[in-house]
Amino acid sequence: MKTTIAKIGNHVEQSVTIGAWLANKRSSGKIAFLQLRDGTGFIQGVVVKAEVEESVFQLAKELTQESSIYVTGIVREDKRAPSGYELTVQEIQVIHEAKDYPITPKEHGTEFLMDHRHLWLRSKRQHAIMRVRNEIIRATYEFFNEQGFSKVDPPILTGSSAEGTTNLFHTKYFDEDAYLSQSGQLYMEAAAMALGKVFSFGPTFRAEKSKTRRHLIEFWMIEPEMAFMDHEDSLVVQEQYVSHVVQAVLANCKQELQALERDTSKLENIVAPFPRITYDEAIDMLKKEGHEIEWGEDFGAPHETAIAEKYDKPVFITHYPAEIKAFYMKPDPNREEVVLCADLIAPEGYGEIIGGSQRIDDEDLLKQRYDEHNLSEESYQWYLDLRKYGSVPHSGFGLGLERTVAWMCGVEHVRETIPFPRLLNRLYP
Ligand code: 4AD
Ligand code: MG
Repeated sequence: MKTTIAKIGNHVEQSVTIGAWLANKRSSGKIAFLQLRDGTGFIQGVVVKAEVEESVFQLAKELTQESSIYVTGIVREDKRAPSGYELTVQEIQVIHEAKDYPITPKEHGTEFLMDHRHLWLRSKRQHAIMRVRNEIIRATYEFFNEQGFSKVDPPILTGSSAEGTTNLFHTKYFDEDAYLSQSGQLYMEAAAMALGKVFSFGPTFRAEKSKTRRHLIEFWMIEPEMAFMDHEDSLVVQEQYVSHVVQAVLANCKQELQALERDTSKLENIVAPFPRITYDEAIDMLKKEGHEIEWGEDFGAPHETAIAEKYDKPVFITHYPAEIKAFYMKPDPNREEVVLCADLIAPEGYGEIIGGSQRIDDEDLLKQRYDEHNLSEESYQWYLDLRKYGSVPHSGFGLGLERTVAWMCGVEHVRETIPFPRLLNRLYP
């Protein structure tokens, strides 16, 4: 019976065959332990010399790391094994013999591993991270579908910028200039006026010369946009969404979190509502602690971490100065110098995972912003149209997938949270 490691529990005490790679191996004169992986999971195969044909034991002893095999054996329940099962091997058939696999079980430097990312992905740790990433994506679709959102796909090649012009990837679009999307938001606003509640999930690009553990050049964003929803309404959706994702990962990625040695007690209490503080309060708090920061300046990573340390849940920082935020954010009607926005800062130093705001819905004010930000009315006429024909209050936000994966997994650097990271000075593999 052919099966997979994930489904092996349905075949206890039966003989099964799995296609697998040899991840690692230990052997003595009488017994060989094969660490097998098949993509769906990891399991230990035990080859006992006295119980198999001589040729099978010999093969097990000689098998090289990452060789591909069909292995047949009897499934045993084993409470101590991470998967809960073990395979008593009867037969091995080699599909392909791997020679000199570069990533040996010994320690390797980060640059070496990054150069071999195409192989590094096979490791137990990277496998676990990719599975958590997948679960976050699955739970995202589940949440927004349940809440009546439609998925809409904004373009990747664009003629305009959403998040400022300093970090745009420029390319030619035949005779025109084009840019890789920094954010689908502006298009999602158009979609919200057509479909009410929408969300997107796609790659976004920032030609940022920053080399930090939180920055990728290419990263994936989930961008919901909602008509007839104000800033406060949006915060409620955000905290419910993040809680849903965290609880889904806890429920469905137990083995993965264990493989990553993640302290799950830190994730268990991530349940809405989340604390909220204003930008003003955050500045006061930081100043009291001796940080050198003045009203009007943006927070850096150390500031965010200092604020996050006060809470055991993600914290919203709201009402930033308009000066340091994007052109489309709606000013607070009670205080024009700040905008109706929030950044959501993850606990444990993982930084900003969401940026969001209520959008300007007044045509004249938006035109004024075009002037202040040197945006050509020609390129942005369509966006102005949304304020011309049945403008409504609307809000939205963007969640950075990789930072969220890093937080869920307890992984230090975002380079491990995306299959093939694009970083400053790295386009290979
Ligand atoms: O705060 P940002 O720049 O917001 C926007 O792009 C809005 N247009 C979103 C919206 O309202 N629809 O980016 C949103 C999130 C950040 O909070 C962060 O999690 C992530 O995207 N992010 C990055 N992740 C990895 N590498 C980078 N260089 C990132 N830049 C932003
Ligand atoms: Mg931001």
